[in-house]
Amino acid sequence: MKKIICKNEAEIAEISAAMIAEQIFIKRESVIGLATGSTPEGLYRKLGEMCKNGDLDFSGVRTFNLDEYYPIKKSSDQSYDYFMWDRLFSHINIERENVHIPNGECADPAEECIAYEQKIASAGGIDIQVLGIGVNGHIGFNEPEAELKMDTHLTGLTPSTIEANSRFFSSVGEVPTKALTMGMGTIMKARSIIMLITGEHKAAITEKIFSGVVTTDVPASFLNLHPNVTVLLDEAAAAKLK
Ligand code: F6R
Repeated sequence: MKKIICKNEAEIAEISAAMIAEQIFIKRESVIGLATGSTPEGLYRKLGEMCKNGDLDFSGVRTFNLDEYYPIKKSSDQSYDYFMWDRLFSHINIERENVHIPNGECADPAEECIAYEQKIASAGGIDIQVLGIGVNGHIGFNEPEAELKMDTHLTGLTPSTIEANSRFFSSVGEVPTKALTMGMGTIMKARSIIMLITGEHKAAITEKIFSGVVTTDVPASFLNLHPNVTVLLDEAAAAKLK
């Protein structure tokens, strides 16, 4: 994994936006994998600005989000669907039919997951995937477990993830306990990956992913086996690296 230590979140946003822009310049109809959460918010603001200034054109781009709570209404302001439209899609010239987010309203999650994998495959696979990382090492909602799943699936969230995500809800009890998520195989098949890591609270997990060990206890450690991963981190997240 290539790592770039940045001065601050603004620099992470600049560099990651430039990487996405380069991908779109090379291939107008790029397939981009996206994450929610606090970490990519600066990147999304920057992409919105670039699009507004006419420096970036999303009209051919197709996107696939990593995950969504289950069950959840799209209209709920805690849904990842709502987050993505609020933070990014409403600010860029993307076609609605080119946006894909696992459907937290679906009646049959197993069917939804199979269909989601098929949509990614028929789009030609993901060219560039944006990732954040959980304090427990999860990517998407692939939580630390003895076995990790390959494909998009319905999963339970660990108490640490429920606790971490409770900041977006009025109480811990309101955080959904399940989610639909791309699997480890879905993520690892992306042709390139940008992982964004910020903050002191991510320093310990950052140290683990760069420790040279690959383990299902730290799902993000599998990114060490991928040929094209760039990790953009701020100094606080990089504090424990040698
Ligand atoms: C979100 C996702 C999660 C987050 C991770 C970090 O779509 O897949 O893996 O990237 O939980 O979240 P933040 O950025 O809020 O610390």
